[in-house]
Amino acid sequence: MPKAAELHLGDKTIELPIVEGSEGERAIDITRLRSETGYITLDPGYANTGSCRSDITFIDGEKGILRYRGIPIEQLADRSSFLEVAFLLMYGSLPSGDQLSYFKNSIRQHTMLHEDFKKLYGALPKDAHPMAACSAAVGALATFYPDSLDPRDPREVEISVHRLIAKLPTMAAYAYKHSIGQPFMFPNNRYDYVGNFLWMMFGNPCEDYEVDETVRKALDLLFILHADHEQNCSTSTARLVGSSMVNLFSVISASINSLWGPLHGGANQQVIEMLAAIRDEGMTGREFVERAKTKDDTSRLMGFGHRVYKNFDPRAKIIKKACFDVLNKLGVHSKLLEIAVELEEIALSDDYFIERKLYPNVDFYSGVIYNAIGTPSNMFTALFAIGRLPGWIAQWIELHTDPDFKIGRPRQVYTGPNETEYTPLAER
Ligand code: SDX
Repeated sequence: MPKAAELHLGDKTIELPIVEGSEGERAIDITRLRSETGYITLDPGYANTGSCRSDITFIDGEKGILRYRGIPIEQLADRSSFLEVAFLLMYGSLPSGDQLSYFKNSIRQHTMLHEDFKKLYGALPKDAHPMAACSAAVGALATFYPDSLDPRDPREVEISVHRLIAKLPTMAAYAYKHSIGQPFMFPNNRYDYVGNFLWMMFGNPCEDYEVDETVRKALDLLFILHADHEQNCSTSTARLVGSSMVNLFSVISASINSLWGPLHGGANQQVIEMLAAIRDEGMTGREFVERAKTKDDTSRLMGFGHRVYKNFDPRAKIIKKACFDVLNKLGVHSKLLEIAVELEEIALSDDYFIERKLYPNVDFYSGVIYNAIGTPSNMFTALFAIGRLPGWIAQWIELHTDPDFKIGRPRQVYTGPNETEYTPLAER
C-alpha cells in the first residue's frame, strides 16, 4: 500500500499521507491540502469523507458486517442486554458483574423527572409529536442541572450520562401518556430498564401491570440493534454540535431532532404508514414497488436503501426473524408483516433495486414489532432514540478525548454574485 497519495495540480505536486484503519480501511489525510494548494475538497453529504478516527463501531457495507467495539452484532443480539451494550459502547469494554450492577443501580436511581416537567408537557398540544416533546425535554435538562454541564469534567459527565440513559424512556413514555390524556406513570424500580419503560407506557393507576417477557425481550433486542451505527446523520450531529463545547443535554437534544427526519430514524414511522396505506388502499405489492421506482412519484420504498450497506443490513435480518418469533409468541397475525415480506421479495428481484443495491435497512421491519406490542407509529422514532442514545453518548465522549479535537467548521465553494454595489431604496 502506498504511504502517501500524490496530487498533481498544474505544475505543483504534493504528497498527502495515507491513513489505514484496523480493518484495512484507507483514507487520504487532507489536513494540509488547503494550506499547501489553496484548494478544498467538495463532497455533498460527506459520502466520501471521514470526519474522525473511531474505535467504537465497525460497519462493512459490502459484507453486511456490524460490530460494536469489535463484537459482532449477532452475538450481542443473542447473548447481551441493552444496558450491557450501552456500557460496552460508552466505556469501551463489556462490564464486569460489579460494574454492570453499579451501572444498573445508578440508572435506576435517576429514572424520575423533576415534578416541574409536568408543566413542560402540560404546555404541549395533545398531538405534539413525541420526538418534539423528547428533544424539548432533553434540552430542558440543561436548565434543571446547571451544576453538571461541563463536557470536560469527568464527574459532571458521568452523572449527565446516567441521567440521560435513565430519563429518556421516562420522557418518551410521558409524551405518549400526554397524547392519550392518561396520567404519567412514575418509574417503578421493581422492573428492569425495559420493563420499566413498558410499565410507564402501558401501565395505569387503576390496575396491576405484568410485563410480558416476550415483549420485554423483543424491545431489549431492538434497543441493542439501534444502539450505534458509526457516523450516521444524528451521530454526526452529536459530534458537530458537541465540538462547540456545549453541554451533553444540548447535544442529545440536537441528535434527537436529526434522527426525527424521514430519511433517517423517522423512516420507521414512514414504513408502517406505507404498509398500512398499501393495506387500506388494497394496493398490490407490485403496484407499490412500481410507484416507488418512478422519479415523479413521492412514494419511496421506505425502509429500503442505505448510504453504507450495499448488501443486507445485518440488523434487518435479525429484526425480520424477531418479527416472526414475537408475533407467533403473542399469537398476533399481522397483515402488515405479510405486505412487508411481499415488498421485500418483489424489490430484491427487481432490477431497479438490484442495480442501486437497495436492501431492507434497520427500519423496514422494526415497526411491525413496535406495532404488534401496541406502540403508536408516532412513538417509533422515540424508541429508536432510546436505543441510539448510548451510541450518541459514546461518540460524544470519544470526540472529547480525541487528540485531534477541534470545532467542526466545514468550508464551502462560493457560487454567489461577485462584488456588487448597494442600491439605495429610492433606486430599486
Ligand atoms: C437509517 O446512516 C445510517 O447508518 C442510518 C441508520 C442508522 O442506524 O443510523 O442506518 C438508520 O437512517 C436507515 C435509513 C432509513 N431511511 C429510509 O429507509 C428512507 C428510504 N431510503 C432512502 O431515502 C435512501 O436509501 C437513504 C437516505 C437511506 C440513503 O440515501 P443515499 O445513500 O443518499 O442514496 P440516494 O438517495 O442517492 O439513492 C440512490 C438511488 C437514487 O436513485 P437514482 O437517482 O440513482 O436513480 O437509489 C434510489 C434513489 O432515488 N433510492 C430509492 C430508495 N433509496 C434510494 N428508490 C426507491 N426507494 C428507496 N427507498
